[in-house]
Amino acid sequence: MKDRLQQLKKEFAEIVDHVVDRETLEELKTQFLGRKGKLNGLMKEMANLADEERKLVGAVANEVKEAIEAAFGEAECRVSKASMASSAAKEWIDVTEPALHTRPRGTLHPVTRVQQDLEELFTSMGFMVLDGPELESDFYNFTALNIPPSHPARDMQDTFYVDGRPDTVMRTQTSPVQIRGMRAYGVPLRLIAPGRVFRNEATDVRHEHTFHQLEGLVVDKGISMAHMKAVLEVVAQHLYGQDTKIRLRPKFYPFVEPGVNGEVTCYLCKGQGCRLCKHSGWLEIFGAGMVHPNVLKEGGVDPDVYSGFAFGFGLTRLVMLKYGIDDIRHLESGDLRFLKQF
Ligand code: DAH
Repeated sequence: MKDRLQQLKKEFAEIVDHVVDRETLEELKTQFLGRKGKLNGLMKEMANLADEERKLVGAVANEVKEAIEAAFGEAECRVSKASMASSAAKEWIDVTEPALHTRPRGTLHPVTRVQQDLEELFTSMGFMVLDGPELESDFYNFTALNIPPSHPARDMQDTFYVDGRPDTVMRTQTSPVQIRGMRAYGVPLRLIAPGRVFRNEATDVRHEHTFHQLEGLVVDKGISMAHMKAVLEVVAQHLYGQDTKIRLRPKFYPFVEPGVNGEVTCYLCKGQGCRLCKHSGWLEIFGAGMVHPNVLKEGGVDPDVYSGFAFGFGLTRLVMLKYGIDDIRHLESGDLRFLKQF
């Protein structure tokens, strides 16, 4: 009896080592340890033994049972490790694959788009692109541009002054960069200066406290109104097509003499007159003129030797015309529903 029990233990040990899957292992367990299994079969026979003998055999039977259970536990561990390894090999992860939820991508602001387009056009004509401070001195914003203190021309532009700093303003125009450019680089000079400007305005669909301009300045020997008109025509045709014409009409600006108000043929009606151009056939988009001698002097340039022209585009206005934006306040609102359309 004892031998048959030991034989059973050996038999189980030999078979269990070859098992590789969980189902076979379970079957084996039932075969050996189950209620109607081999071990129980032998145990039943023990009932026929004498008391002494039964005790001895019982001890062996218990030992065999424990040994079989331990071997089974080991095999179970081995089989489950193997099955994990094989499913990991099947379900490999590609760590180089892009994530599903990436950060949303923005778009360029419409003002930036038009500004970059014009920067490209002007640099192709040999202009440099300059920046100037948005918090500007009263001197650069007004005085150096031929607008002395208490001159009525200061009232043309409602200015934001800075508390406790009477000599400092939020620049009302990009024109101060004319002076900064002449002082920094001397002449001959071709520059543009796009940027943000500020006016103390009550806001409505056409007025905003913050908007954009694009300033231009050319200074050299022998520069005339003809040069000015030619350059502005190139810009107008770049923006609105080859058939576009420009019209210059006298207008006073303190920093130029003569000064003009510049218009282009309305691109919508081609000059026939429509709602966009208020039935005039023309769209007003810039101011320009021959640089005033006082301004050249402030820039350190001799007006007897050099002359120049300057212009200022309403960059914000160009953007509104280009994209048909009917409320200027959208542009500085930061409203994504608006911005995502560009
Ligand atoms: N600075 C003017 C404005 O804000 C625009 C302007 C007009 C600029 C004539 C110029 C110019 O350079 O020559 O209304």
